Amino acid sequence: MKTAAIQILKNEHLAIAAVLYALHWLARGMRKGEAPNFPVLRAILDYIVSYPDRWHHPKEDTHLFTAIRSRTHEADALIARLEREHRLGHPMVEDLKRELIALQNGEDGALEAFCSCAIRYAELEWRHLRTEEDQLLPIAERVLQPEDWRAIHEAFQENDNPLFGIKPKDEADALYQRILALAPSPIGPPA
Ligand SMILES: [Fe+2]
Ligand SMILES: [Fe+2]
Repeated sequence: MKTAAIQILKNEHLAIAAVLYALHWLARGMRKGEAPNFPVLRAILDYIVSYPDRWHHPKEDTHLFTAIRSRTHEADALIARLEREHRLGHPMVEDLKRELIALQNGEDGALEAFCSCAIRYAELEWRHLRTEEDQLLPIAERVLQPEDWRAIHEAFQENDNPLFGIKPKDEADALYQRILALAPSPIGPPA
């Protein structure tokens, strides 16, 4: 179960990182004068809200971080930092959504405000994913017991949460496909 649970987490990171790459790439292009691709940018922000923010990070908080804390205190500071970063991401995405609307409305300074926030956000999240894989997972592998991994695997493989009436995984998959379909090459399909 340990290997399977870690694989699910890494697969989710890979999908999130790919979308962050698209955001970073588009923002850098816009700074160089490329026209904003509003449908893709909106799809990316929708994806970030529905997947990492509403699904991936809360799963880590509730299951992985809690399990590690119950076995050791050596990761307390690291987990506190990762939880802080989970909370930090949400207002940044709200800022990005506001800045994207300002950009569509042609407001002064909106382009630079959006691009700098998008680049900062993507880089912060990348560092976050990397820290989880490079620093937290080795501790988890060392301290967690088979019953912990069983519970984490069960929670991680659950695609939707009927308690909340949402289907984040389905929604995220659809948005992910939409980003791929809309994005220009080299992110999307070759022209
Ligand atoms: Fe996380
Ligand atoms: Fe993560």
